[in-house]
Amino acid sequence: MKTLAPHFPRTRMRRVRRTNWSRRLVAENTLTPNDLIWPVFVHEGEDLAIDIPSMPGVKRLSLDLLKVAAKEAYDLGIPAIALFPAVEQHLKTEDGREALNKDNIICKAIKTIKDVVPEMGVLCDVALDPFTTHGQDGLVQDGYVVNDPTLDVLVGQALNQVEAGCDIIAPSDMMDGRIGAIRDALEREGHRDTLIMSYAAKFASGFYGPFRDAVGSTGNLGMGDKRTYQMNPANTNEAIREVALDINEGADMVMVKPGMPYLDICRRVKDEFGVPTYAYQVSGEYAMLAGAAQNGWLDREKVVMESLLGFKRAGCDGILTYFAVEAAQNLQG
Ligand code: PBG
Repeated sequence: MKTLAPHFPRTRMRRVRRTNWSRRLVAENTLTPNDLIWPVFVHEGEDLAIDIPSMPGVKRLSLDLLKVAAKEAYDLGIPAIALFPAVEQHLKTEDGREALNKDNIICKAIKTIKDVVPEMGVLCDVALDPFTTHGQDGLVQDGYVVNDPTLDVLVGQALNQVEAGCDIIAPSDMMDGRIGAIRDALEREGHRDTLIMSYAAKFASGFYGPFRDAVGSTGNLGMGDKRTYQMNPANTNEAIREVALDINEGADMVMVKPGMPYLDICRRVKDEFGVPTYAYQVSGEYAMLAGAAQNGWLDREKVVMESLLGFKRAGCDGILTYFAVEAAQNLQG
């Protein structure tokens, strides 16, 4: 009886996976602390850290605690912090005018960071939701968020933040024309070198829920949503148009938000424009991973690092993530 020659694969994909050194040698993407931007929630008070129940492990900080946290993040090699305010209820108004107050919590937080770590980048959101009684990102007339009148206020908010020392203006409001309006105002006022990272493709997402708890806008927003200005999660081509507009209007960097469910958008943006591209791994994404890990269902370190590497693979130059500090610690080994 004739014996058949044993079968063997000519190409063995497993060869390079066999040892740690060869796995490292063939790695196509890497995550470093340079890729991370850390979003931090701030509030008034002293020595006050408040847990955010829907984001286990994340705390809202008073400015004295922000000092310590910023220094720690800086020492870990994280390039920039993104600031988000929980504004006291009595300061919220229909028109969000507290956003223009030179001494508001955000302006004070910017100065706090610049005091301790002047070399650290500070990014500030431009949108009115933390400052309005209705929790919408713009001015509301007859139940509708009105575009053009909102632009004036957003320009004022951006200038206020830049004058306090903000390095990166990050409009998250999704009004039409806001990047151009802000860029013109920055040039006019002599802030030629201020960076703009536009939330260019920002989707009307259920994943922002815990953030709205953290800044205290959930109750204010009530049953309302943001679908008349944030994008429909069904759309891709529209995201490309949004990004093209923002680049033309003067954005230096663009962001896709949320992150994990929108990696296809990240990839397409990077391929089409080749501009510095960021993703925001938002509060609900944090809650999913942290909540499952807290229950013992997922290995926190593994899923955190894997999720962040996914953004790099999708073409992102960096990630805004609530895991920034622990990811940087993990990278130190
Ligand atoms: C405000 C803003 C939101 C987030 C960042 N900036 C919430 C929203 O649009 O309702 C969400 C961030 C997160 O969920 O982590 N315009």
